[in-house]
Amino acid sequence: MDPAAEEARHLGLRFQQGFLAGRRLSAFPWAELEKKLKSSSDALLLLDILQKHESIATEPLDELYDVLADILNKEESTTCYKSYLLPTGDSVTLSETVAIISQGTTGLVTWDAALYLAEWAIENSAIFSNRTILELGSGIGLTGIAICKTCNPKAYVFSDYHHCVLEQLRENIHLNGFVLESETGNHTKMQSQNQRTEVMDLQGPKITAAELDWDSVTKEQLSQLQVDVVIAADVVYDPQITSSLISVLQQLSASKTAGKPPEIYIAFTVRNPDTYHLFQTELGKVGIGWQVVPTHTKNLFLYDLHSNITLLKLLA
Ligand SMILES: C[S@@+](CC[C@H](N)C(=O)[O-])C[C@H]1O[C@@H](n2cnc3c(N)ncnc32)[C@H](O)[C@@H]1O
Repeated sequence: MDPAAEEARHLGLRFQQGFLAGRRLSAFPWAELEKKLKSSSDALLLLDILQKHESIATEPLDELYDVLADILNKEESTTCYKSYLLPTGDSVTLSETVAIISQGTTGLVTWDAALYLAEWAIENSAIFSNRTILELGSGIGLTGIAICKTCNPKAYVFSDYHHCVLEQLRENIHLNGFVLESETGNHTKMQSQNQRTEVMDLQGPKITAAELDWDSVTKEQLSQLQVDVVIAADVVYDPQITSSLISVLQQLSASKTAGKPPEIYIAFTVRNPDTYHLFQTELGKVGIGWQVVPTHTKNLFLYDLHSNITLLKLLA
């Protein structure tokens, strides 16, 4: 493919990604499109973008207009579905809330650090392959579901403490064709109902969505999980929760699986440098060091590339 066509294909793909992930219109690459259209002699690119977003080849049915009118007359929904395309051609589809904070939690939307951590994991899948992963503060599951679909972990323990977040997380795990370990008793029933779910369950990782509150979880509960790798995204944002998070990290770094402590990776957006420094100081106080993990090379998802996201590997 010639470079101009390749560039146009890439731009079209970015419009598609933005559309499927429910990004705000202002986040679409309009400036690049304008530039491309000015230098392009035909309208093929525009046609491609339009075809990806609306069926322009067929006349919409009257029934569709009726359904649309019904929807518009209903109260505005507080949740939506977003799809994040994976390099494998598969995608992670999530039910998310439209508000950044709802039900008193930040956990019902996907944050940029979760997308960053998923991208990094996909590029470093050997760290996750055939290992048991614990994710702290999973929220609604983007990072974990992307890892389960692309990195071949042996087992994946999603965790959070907020009951609405856990409910939505479990719904999203199902939505992506996985079965939770707690449901494997219903195996036969699910098999007859949903063949695809059954197939993924037999081949895929053992998946758990655990209620795990950093304020109350015990050392024994953590060491029973026998995890090889611990990850978390955007859990360093509130100085008030930092000390309980540090105490969990301390207990985890003192635990051993097959004689070795788990590898721990924490990704976060540095919104307030004071919160970041407090986290580092508190880590130092309990004897945990860290190193900044070099950024990955491939940007797969749409998020603000200028936001200050850091990934730390903790060193016990
Ligand atoms: C900003 S959200 C990040 C969610 C997800 N990791 C992401 O990046 O999209 C922070 C998450 O930490 C969870 N959290 C906060 N305090 C917690 C605690 N004490 N125990 C367990 N999870 C907690 C919240 O419920 C929420 O899901």
